[in-house]
Amino acid sequence: MAYIITDPCIDTKDSACVDVCPVDCIHPRKDEPEFATTRMLYIHPEECIDCGACVPACPVAAIYDGPEATPESQKTLIEANAIYRAGDAATVAQAESIVAQHASSRPDLMNVPAAERAVAHAK
Ligand code: F3S
Ligand code: F3S
Repeated sequence: MAYIITDPCIDTKDSACVDVCPVDCIHPRKDEPEFATTRMLYIHPEECIDCGACVPACPVAAIYDGPEATPESQKTLIEANAIYRAGDAATVAQAESIVAQHASSRPDLMNVPAAERAVAHAK
C-alpha cells in the first residue's frame, strides 16, 4: 500500500520528501505550477514503491506507512492522496477541497504547530 501524506504538510510543504523519492511520485513539485496554490503535497498511490525514504525526510512527520497506519483523524486525506493527479486541474481541485474540509473541520489539530501535530494524531 502506498504511503500517505497528512495534515502537518498543510501550509508547510517542506518538499524534502520530493528530493528523496526515487520514483518522483510526490506532487506538486516546486517546479510544477500547482505548487504555488495547493496547500499540501500528495503521493500517487500507484506510483509509490513503498520504499519509506520520504518518512524520515519530512521535518513535521506528515507521512504514514499506508492507509492502515494512518491515524483515524487523517483518514479523509487518504482519498486526497489517491485523487490528486499532476497537471489535472479537476483532480487537483477535488484533492484540495478534501484538504480544505479537513482543515476547517479539525481546528483542534490545525491549531497545533505542524511539527507537534503527529503527536496529537496519536491521542
Ligand atoms: Fe516515494 Fe518511497 Fe515515499 S516511493 S512516496 S519515497 S515511500
Ligand atoms: Fe509535506 Fe513533509 Fe513532504 S511537509 S512536502 S510531506 S517533507
